[in-house]
Amino acid sequence: MDRTLLITGGAGFIGSHVVRLFVKKYPHYRIINLDALTYAGNLENLRDAEHAPNYAFVRADIRDAAAMANVFAQHKPDGVIHLAAESHVDRSISDPMAFVETNVTGTVHLLNAAREAWKGVFDGKRFYHVSTDEVYGSLHDGGFFTESTPYDPQSPYSASKAASDHFVRAYGNTYKLPFVISNCSNNYGSHQFPEKLIPLMIHNLRTGKPLPVYGKGENVRDWLWVEDHSRAIDVIFHQGLNGETYNIGGHNEWKNIDLVQLLCAIMDRKLGRAPGESAKQITYVTDRAGHDLRYAIDASKIARELGWKPGITFEQGLEQTVDWYLANDPWLQAVTSGAYRDYYAAQYGDRG
Ligand code: NAD
Ligand code: TYD
Repeated sequence: MDRTLLITGGAGFIGSHVVRLFVKKYPHYRIINLDALTYAGNLENLRDAEHAPNYAFVRADIRDAAAMANVFAQHKPDGVIHLAAESHVDRSISDPMAFVETNVTGTVHLLNAAREAWKGVFDGKRFYHVSTDEVYGSLHDGGFFTESTPYDPQSPYSASKAASDHFVRAYGNTYKLPFVISNCSNNYGSHQFPEKLIPLMIHNLRTGKPLPVYGKGENVRDWLWVEDHSRAIDVIFHQGLNGETYNIGGHNEWKNIDLVQLLCAIMDRKLGRAPGESAKQITYVTDRAGHDLRYAIDASKIARELGWKPGITFEQGLEQTVDWYLANDPWLQAVTSGAYRDYYAAQYGDRG
């Protein structure tokens, strides 16, 4: 094996796509997937990769400093791609400490473990921190987030991600730890936990439940297909420059209500319903506290410097995504049983 990569959060949504891509594309790399398997982590997401000879899974929690040191001592990774995180804004509003503990403290434990293991010999080493565009705050008057937009996080989730980004840069500056950071817009695709907008709406459309649109549905997100994000992570990990930040986005802004209407139209067609039938499920509900109005990424740096751009259109990606959820009903059933029901009742009450 040429090198050993530690990918954290590999049992989650984006992480599982990154693990799959790396396991298949780099048979000469040893890929260690480190994940605590929280409610969001699911090894079913990796059934097609788990028997590959270059893949290993380690169940460990990044909040556990000793466990992180042990993983580095045992597996001796020379690269880290760090995706493990608490990732849902609504959960960060009801339980902010979980976000501090995993996203901030957990990231610092991982940085310490890398620094300790690499002992100042940084040749061929790289710590890649995967972050979000939400650290830049909310756009109100047009414009786009660039890599030099000042940080202005507005939710406990984005504040915790911003703090983790700052720690990564501080370790680069202070200890010369070689790092790269990327800040990406909203992802969609297969294997996304149905607490996030698109899979939640697909699941509710399928099961005939209300489609809970927050506020007036006028908030805007820039959607990127998860496999395009994974390709960007591959390009940045291999070709990005140390100490640099790369914004990743889909050039694909949608108001929530327009996106939900589009999903309704797709589902009418796929489920053989009369046009307009699914849209009857749309229900406006109380807005999210402190709801960011608009995110939009200027992804020109990664296009110019690393030659990455999105590979498929939103129409193609959304169609494939809906098809995946419809074809994988047992996956949705499994992840929406048990604890999901309690979460759903607490989040949406009798509006859901
Ligand atoms: P996810 O919630 O689907 O998966 C997170 C994974 O991390 C899960 O497998 C979970 O078990 C694991 N995890 C959580 N806490 C852990 C802990 N303490 N120790 C070890 N593992 C733990 O998240 P996602 O949507 O795949 O996001 C992955 C990363 O990408 C996150 O860092 C997130 O901030 C970032 N990101 C996400 C998006 C998006 O649209 N989903 C956009 C930009 C950036
Ligand atoms: P989400 O998928 O939670 O991503 P983020 O908040 O990180 O951008 O939400 C995307 C948008 O959809 C956001 O503006 C909130 C909105 N939303 C709803 O209107 N209803 C819902 O049930 C959810 C989960 C989100």
